[in-house]
Amino acid sequence: MYPLRRHRRLRQSEAIRALVRETTINPNDFLVPLFVVEGKGVKEEIASMPNYYRFSLDLLEKEVKTLWKLGLKAVLLFVKVPDNLKDNSGTEALNPEGLMQRAIMTVKNTCPDMLVMTDVALDPYSSFGHDGIVHGGQILNDETNSILAEMSLSHAQAGADFVAPSDMMDGRIFEIRSLLEDEGFHNTGIMSYSAKYASGFYGPFRDALDSAPVDIKDVPKDKQTYQMDPANRMEAIRETQMDIDEGADIVMVKPGLAYLDIVRDIKNTVDVPVAVYQVSGEYAMLKAAAEKGWLDHDAVMMEQLISIKRAGANIIASYFAKDVVKLLS
Ligand code: PBG
Repeated sequence: MYPLRRHRRLRQSEAIRALVRETTINPNDFLVPLFVVEGKGVKEEIASMPNYYRFSLDLLEKEVKTLWKLGLKAVLLFVKVPDNLKDNSGTEALNPEGLMQRAIMTVKNTCPDMLVMTDVALDPYSSFGHDGIVHGGQILNDETNSILAEMSLSHAQAGADFVAPSDMMDGRIFEIRSLLEDEGFHNTGIMSYSAKYASGFYGPFRDALDSAPVDIKDVPKDKQTYQMDPANRMEAIRETQMDIDEGADIVMVKPGLAYLDIVRDIKNTVDVPVAVYQVSGEYAMLKAAAEKGWLDHDAVMMEQLISIKRAGANIIASYFAKDVVKLLS
């Protein structure tokens, strides 16, 4: 009781604040998403993601070296697939010489100790912009799972350390784990996007990869039949528990900031590492507000990341990773 207790005693100086601080951010927290395109010498800024780029393989090499020097040791690869290679079943995703497979090899050749995780989903390869095969106005579940498993195997063969299925089909972790085991890839890990919500925050990412669902007859306009309803909380636990039972090594909640209650629920329930994806829309909002001078970029960036970690994240996939590490050093 006051004055025996004065909370401000622990806030008087940076030294005492640092001493009692419960949550800190360091380079080991981050997984860096990278967007890869065909071509040479390409470094294109993504319009809705200021200061974030798509790289061709030669410049990907340079970027990976930079990340490693900054102490960032894990990347999450996404590819922008040319339109003429897209179809309904993601055939190009299984091409051993495909852009993803070459990107994996490029990172591993450049920086063998860099942890390489790969996106596994059909949407960048889909002519309809969906994470699975479209048929009769539906997204087929089991047929999609077989392709996701083949895709994961192909990434593992190219040298990926972890595959990261972001599609939200039911049972895909089991299919992927089983095929990897059958083919001898016992040590290839799975980071499952286990509680992934049907979110408006993915807009800039779909610009980056040109992967939004297309607006044509008999193709669902959104992903609400497979991604989760933002209104639901219990379902996140069911989804996540099932992915762990099926063999996920790391689980994920996505998006980040608007879903921190879910992060805490999951953290309190499971015994595997929990990743959080601070998604493209979260990045875009802060960049835009900061450009207008309405928010202090660095202060809000750090506050958001601390909040994600405080909520229970062991790993944060974030487009701010480089900005943060530079700020810290
Ligand atoms: C698709 C995928 C998406 C993201 C990662 N993988 C978008 C979607 O589900 O439509 C979003 C990431 C971001 O917004 O930063 N499989």
